[in-house]
Amino acid sequence: MRTYSFAEYQDAANEIKSKISITPEIGLVLGSGLGPLADEVEGAKPGEAPVVIKYRDISGWPVSTVFGHKGQLVIGKLGGRNVIVQQGRTHFYEGYSLHEVTFAVRVMKILGVKTLVVTNAAGGVNVFFHPGDVMLITDHIALAGMAGNNPLCGPNMEEFGTRFPDMSQAYDREYGRMAKAAAVKHNIDLKEGIYVWLSGPSFETPAEVRMLRSWGVDAVGMSTVPEVIIARHCGMRVLGFSGITNKNSDNGEVQTNHEEVMEAAKTIGPKIITILKEILPNL
Ligand code: HPA
Repeated sequence: MRTYSFAEYQDAANEIKSKISITPEIGLVLGSGLGPLADEVEGAKPGEAPVVIKYRDISGWPVSTVFGHKGQLVIGKLGGRNVIVQQGRTHFYEGYSLHEVTFAVRVMKILGVKTLVVTNAAGGVNVFFHPGDVMLITDHIALAGMAGNNPLCGPNMEEFGTRFPDMSQAYDREYGRMAKAAAVKHNIDLKEGIYVWLSGPSFETPAEVRMLRSWGVDAVGMSTVPEVIIARHCGMRVLGFSGITNKNSDNGEVQTNHEEVMEAAKTIGPKIITILKEILPNL
Protein backbone atom coordinates (compact mmCIF):
# COMPACT_ATOMS: atom_id res chain seq x y z
CA MET A 1 0.00 0.00 0.00
CA ARG A 2 1.33 3.45 -0.91
CA THR A 3 2.07 5.56 2.16
CA TYR A 4 4.06 8.79 2.47
CA SER A 5 6.73 10.11 4.79
CA PHE A 6 6.47 13.68 6.07
CA ALA A 7 9.38 14.56 3.77
CA GLU A 8 7.38 13.43 0.72
CA TYR A 9 4.52 15.81 1.60
CA GLN A 10 7.12 18.55 2.09
CA ASP A 11 8.81 17.83 -1.25
CA ALA A 12 5.53 18.19 -3.14
CA ALA A 13 4.72 21.40 -1.23
CA ASN A 14 8.15 22.83 -2.01
CA GLU A 15 7.77 22.07 -5.72
CA ILE A 16 4.44 23.92 -5.76
CA LYS A 17 5.85 26.79 -3.67
CA SER A 18 8.65 27.32 -6.20
CA LYS A 19 6.03 28.01 -8.91
CA ILE A 20 3.71 30.40 -7.04
CA SER A 21 4.00 33.90 -5.57
CA ILE A 22 1.09 33.75 -3.11
CA THR A 23 0.43 31.78 0.07
CA PRO A 24 -2.84 29.88 -0.43
CA GLU A 25 -5.21 30.19 2.53
CA ILE A 26 -8.23 28.33 1.20
CA GLY A 27 -8.19 24.96 -0.56
CA LEU A 28 -11.03 23.86 -2.81
CA VAL A 29 -11.62 20.29 -3.93
CA LEU A 30 -13.84 20.08 -7.00
CA GLY A 31 -15.92 16.98 -7.61
CA SER A 32 -17.27 15.37 -10.78
CA GLY A 33 -18.51 17.98 -13.25
CA LEU A 34 -17.71 20.90 -10.95
CA GLY A 35 -14.38 21.66 -12.62
CA PRO A 36 -15.65 24.90 -14.24
CA LEU A 37 -15.38 26.59 -10.85
CA ALA A 38 -11.62 26.66 -11.47
CA ASP A 39 -12.21 28.87 -14.54
CA GLU A 40 -13.28 31.62 -12.14
CA VAL A 41 -9.84 31.77 -10.53
CA GLU A 42 -7.72 34.78 -11.46
CA GLY A 43 -4.00 35.38 -11.25
CA ALA A 44 -2.19 36.86 -8.25
CA LYS A 45 -2.29 40.30 -9.90
CA PRO A 46 -5.21 41.79 -11.88
CA GLY A 47 -5.09 40.71 -15.52
CA GLU A 48 -2.79 37.79 -14.80
CA ALA A 49 -3.71 34.16 -15.38
CA PRO A 50 -3.69 31.75 -12.42
CA VAL A 51 -0.85 29.27 -12.03
CA VAL A 52 -1.83 25.82 -13.31
CA ILE A 53 0.20 22.78 -12.28
CA LYS A 54 -0.57 19.29 -13.60
CA TYR A 55 -0.65 16.59 -10.94
CA ARG A 56 1.69 14.48 -13.05
CA ASP A 57 4.34 17.19 -12.65
CA ILE A 58 4.30 17.01 -8.83
CA SER A 59 6.32 14.33 -7.01
CA GLY A 60 4.14 11.72 -5.32
CA TRP A 61 0.84 13.12 -6.60
CA PRO A 62 -1.63 10.41 -7.69
CA VAL A 63 -3.29 11.02 -11.07
CA SER A 64 -7.03 10.24 -11.43
CA THR A 65 -8.37 8.04 -14.20
CA VAL A 66 -12.02 9.14 -13.92
CA PHE A 67 -13.62 10.80 -16.93
CA GLY A 68 -14.52 14.40 -16.08
CA HIS A 69 -11.61 14.89 -13.69
CA LYS A 70 -8.91 17.18 -15.07
CA GLY A 71 -5.99 16.42 -12.82
CA GLN A 72 -4.48 19.80 -12.06
CA LEU A 73 -4.04 22.47 -9.42
CA VAL A 74 -5.15 26.02 -10.14
CA ILE A 75 -3.63 28.62 -7.82
CA GLY A 76 -4.62 32.26 -7.69
CA LYS A 77 -7.37 34.59 -6.46
CA LEU A 78 -11.07 33.89 -6.02
CA GLY A 79 -13.39 36.25 -4.16
CA GLY A 80 -10.32 38.27 -3.21
CA ARG A 81 -8.74 35.31 -1.39
CA ASN A 82 -5.64 33.26 -2.14
CA VAL A 83 -6.90 29.86 -3.21
CA ILE A 84 -5.54 26.55 -4.34
CA VAL A 85 -8.06 24.57 -6.35
CA GLN A 86 -7.84 20.84 -6.85
CA GLN A 87 -9.47 20.25 -10.22
CA GLY A 88 -10.10 16.54 -10.00
CA ARG A 89 -9.41 14.10 -7.19
CA THR A 90 -8.59 10.43 -6.85
CA HIS A 91 -11.02 7.92 -5.40
CA PHE A 92 -10.58 4.82 -3.29
CA TYR A 93 -12.43 2.75 -5.93
CA GLU A 94 -9.75 3.54 -8.51
CA GLY A 95 -7.41 1.39 -6.46
CA TYR A 96 -5.53 4.20 -4.74
CA SER A 97 -4.68 3.91 -1.07
CA LEU A 98 -6.44 6.37 1.23
CA HIS A 99 -3.04 8.01 1.76
CA GLU A 100 -2.95 8.78 -1.96
CA VAL A 101 -6.60 9.91 -1.96
CA THR A 102 -5.81 12.43 0.79
CA PHE A 103 -2.26 13.38 -0.30
CA ALA A 104 -3.39 16.80 -1.55
CA VAL A 105 -4.88 17.87 1.77
CA ARG A 106 -1.65 17.44 3.69
CA VAL A 107 0.35 19.17 0.96
CA MET A 108 -2.13 22.07 1.15
CA LYS A 109 -1.69 22.17 4.93
CA ILE A 110 2.07 22.56 4.54
CA LEU A 111 1.47 25.30 1.95
CA GLY A 112 -0.53 27.28 4.53
CA VAL A 113 -4.15 26.35 3.84
CA LYS A 114 -6.41 26.83 6.89
CA THR A 115 -9.83 26.20 5.33
CA LEU A 116 -10.87 23.36 3.04
CA VAL A 117 -13.94 23.60 0.83
CA VAL A 118 -15.01 20.20 -0.48
CA THR A 119 -17.55 19.50 -3.20
CA ASN A 120 -18.86 16.32 -4.73
CA ALA A 121 -21.51 14.77 -6.92
CA ALA A 122 -23.87 12.68 -4.81
CA GLY A 123 -26.98 10.58 -5.07
CA GLY A 124 -30.10 11.86 -3.33
CA VAL A 125 -31.26 9.46 -0.63
CA ASN A 126 -33.62 11.98 0.99
CA VAL A 127 -36.91 11.64 -0.91
CA PHE A 128 -37.30 15.41 -1.05
CA PHE A 129 -34.02 15.89 -2.95
CA HIS A 130 -33.95 16.21 -6.74
CA PRO A 131 -31.21 16.21 -9.39
CA GLY A 132 -29.77 19.73 -9.59
CA ASP A 133 -30.19 20.44 -5.85
CA VAL A 134 -27.23 21.53 -3.75
CA MET A 135 -26.86 20.22 -0.19
CA LEU A 136 -24.78 21.81 2.55
CA ILE A 137 -23.04 18.89 4.28
CA THR A 138 -23.78 19.18 8.01
CA ASP A 139 -22.26 15.84 9.01
CA HIS A 140 -21.05 12.59 7.52
CA ILE A 141 -21.06 8.86 8.01
CA ALA A 142 -17.71 7.35 7.08
CA LEU A 143 -19.21 3.98 6.32
CA ALA A 144 -16.12 2.67 4.54
CA GLY A 145 -14.04 4.11 7.39
CA MET A 146 -16.13 2.47 10.07
CA ALA A 147 -15.70 -0.79 8.18
CA GLY A 148 -11.91 -0.53 8.45
CA ASN A 149 -10.85 1.91 5.75
CA ASN A 150 -10.12 5.10 7.66
CA PRO A 151 -7.44 7.33 6.07
CA LEU A 152 -5.81 7.72 9.49
CA CYS A 153 -5.19 3.98 9.89
CA GLY A 154 -1.49 3.24 10.26
CA PRO A 155 1.19 5.04 12.29
CA ASN A 156 0.00 8.50 13.36
CA MET A 157 1.90 11.44 11.86
CA GLU A 158 2.28 13.72 14.87
CA GLU A 159 3.47 16.53 12.56
CA PHE A 160 -0.13 16.81 11.38
CA GLY A 161 -2.25 15.96 14.41
CA THR A 162 -3.27 13.75 17.28
CA ARG A 163 -3.80 9.97 17.19
CA PHE A 164 -7.52 10.17 18.04
CA PRO A 165 -8.92 13.33 16.43
CA ASP A 166 -12.30 14.71 17.44
CA MET A 167 -15.02 14.68 14.76
CA SER A 168 -17.89 16.23 16.75
CA GLN A 169 -18.00 19.26 14.45
CA ALA A 170 -16.29 18.07 11.30
CA TYR A 171 -18.23 20.63 9.24
CA ASP A 172 -17.77 24.16 10.49
CA ARG A 173 -21.06 25.50 11.85
CA GLU A 174 -20.19 29.15 11.35
CA TYR A 175 -19.32 28.52 7.70
CA GLY A 176 -22.58 26.59 7.34
CA ARG A 177 -24.57 29.57 8.60
CA MET A 178 -22.73 31.83 6.15
CA ALA A 179 -23.52 29.46 3.26
CA LYS A 180 -27.21 29.37 4.17
CA ALA A 181 -27.40 33.16 4.39
CA ALA A 182 -25.68 33.47 0.99
CA ALA A 183 -28.15 31.01 -0.52
CA VAL A 184 -31.14 32.99 0.81
CA LYS A 185 -29.64 36.22 -0.55
CA HIS A 186 -29.26 34.70 -4.02
CA ASN A 187 -32.56 32.83 -4.02
CA ILE A 188 -30.93 29.40 -4.05
CA ASP A 189 -32.84 26.55 -2.40
CA LEU A 190 -29.89 25.16 -0.41
CA LYS A 191 -30.69 21.80 1.18
CA GLU A 192 -28.74 20.50 4.15
CA GLY A 193 -28.03 17.03 5.40
CA ILE A 194 -25.83 14.05 6.07
CA TYR A 195 -23.45 12.60 3.48
CA VAL A 196 -22.46 8.96 3.61
CA TRP A 197 -19.19 7.76 2.08
CA LEU A 198 -19.26 4.36 0.43
CA SER A 199 -16.27 2.97 -1.41
CA GLY A 200 -18.15 2.37 -4.70
CA PRO A 201 -17.76 2.07 -7.68
CA SER A 202 -21.01 0.12 -8.02
CA PHE A 203 -24.06 2.25 -7.27
CA GLU A 204 -26.38 1.24 -4.43
CA THR A 205 -28.95 -1.53 -4.52
CA PRO A 206 -32.54 -0.70 -3.47
CA ALA A 207 -31.95 -2.55 -0.19
CA GLU A 208 -28.85 -0.44 0.47
CA VAL A 209 -30.80 2.74 -0.28
CA ARG A 210 -33.52 1.71 2.19
CA MET A 211 -30.85 0.96 4.80
CA LEU A 212 -29.16 4.34 4.29
CA ARG A 213 -32.50 6.15 4.45
CA SER A 214 -33.39 4.45 7.74
CA TRP A 215 -30.03 5.68 9.10
CA GLY A 216 -30.95 9.29 8.35
CA VAL A 217 -28.64 9.63 5.37
CA ASP A 218 -29.56 12.39 2.90
CA ALA A 219 -26.92 11.97 0.19
CA VAL A 220 -24.56 9.20 -0.86
CA GLY A 221 -21.22 9.37 -2.62
CA MET A 222 -17.80 7.85 -3.15
CA SER A 223 -15.49 10.67 -2.04
CA THR A 224 -14.95 13.68 0.23
CA VAL A 225 -15.02 12.02 3.67
CA PRO A 226 -11.40 10.80 3.54
CA GLU A 227 -10.25 14.34 2.71
CA VAL A 228 -12.41 15.81 5.49
CA ILE A 229 -11.04 13.40 8.11
CA ILE A 230 -7.47 14.28 7.12
CA ALA A 231 -8.30 18.01 7.07
CA ARG A 232 -9.81 17.88 10.57
CA HIS A 233 -6.88 15.82 11.83
CA CYS A 234 -4.52 18.68 10.89
CA GLY A 235 -6.83 21.39 12.22
CA MET A 236 -8.36 22.82 9.06
CA ARG A 237 -11.90 24.23 9.09
CA VAL A 238 -14.18 22.50 6.58
CA LEU A 239 -17.10 23.59 4.43
CA GLY A 240 -18.75 20.97 2.21
CA PHE A 241 -21.35 20.83 -0.53
CA SER A 242 -22.94 17.90 -2.32
CA GLY A 243 -24.45 18.42 -5.74
CA ILE A 244 -27.40 16.04 -6.04
CA THR A 245 -27.03 14.50 -9.48
CA ASN A 246 -29.56 11.65 -9.30
CA LYS A 247 -32.27 10.21 -7.12
CA ASN A 248 -31.50 6.87 -5.50
CA SER A 249 -34.20 4.32 -6.06
CA ASP A 250 -35.46 2.24 -3.16
CA ASN A 251 -37.51 -0.06 -5.39
CA GLY A 252 -35.24 -0.75 -8.36
CA GLU A 253 -37.45 1.18 -10.81
CA VAL A 254 -34.83 3.84 -11.61
CA GLN A 255 -31.28 3.20 -12.79
CA THR A 256 -28.23 5.38 -12.13
CA ASN A 257 -25.45 6.10 -14.63
CA HIS A 258 -22.36 8.30 -14.82
CA GLU A 259 -23.65 10.36 -17.80
CA GLU A 260 -26.70 11.44 -15.79
CA VAL A 261 -24.38 12.47 -12.94
CA MET A 262 -22.26 14.62 -15.28
CA GLU A 263 -25.36 16.25 -16.86
CA ALA A 264 -26.91 17.32 -13.53
CA ALA A 265 -23.55 18.63 -12.35
CA LYS A 266 -23.83 21.35 -15.04
CA THR A 267 -26.75 23.04 -13.24
CA ILE A 268 -25.21 22.49 -9.81
CA GLY A 269 -21.88 24.22 -10.55
CA PRO A 270 -23.29 27.74 -10.95
CA LYS A 271 -25.20 27.50 -7.64
CA ILE A 272 -22.12 26.45 -5.69
CA ILE A 273 -20.05 29.12 -7.44
CA THR A 274 -22.59 31.82 -6.45
CA ILE A 275 -22.61 30.76 -2.79
CA LEU A 276 -18.82 30.47 -2.63
CA LYS A 277 -18.17 33.83 -4.25
CA GLU A 278 -20.48 35.43 -1.69
CA ILE A 279 -18.82 33.91 1.36
CA LEU A 280 -15.17 33.43 0.33
CA PRO A 281 -14.16 36.94 1.46
CA ASN A 282 -15.32 36.03 4.98
CA LEU A 283 -13.99 32.50 5.34
N1 HPA B 1 -24.34 6.81 -5.43
C1 HPA B 1 -23.03 6.93 -5.10
N2 HPA B 1 -22.26 7.91 -5.55
C2 HPA B 1 -22.79 8.81 -6.39
C3 HPA B 1 -24.14 8.73 -6.78
C4 HPA B 1 -24.95 7.68 -6.28
O1 HPA B 1 -26.14 7.56 -6.59
N3 HPA B 1 -24.36 9.78 -7.62
C5 HPA B 1 -23.19 10.47 -7.72
N4 HPA B 1 -22.24 9.87 -6.97
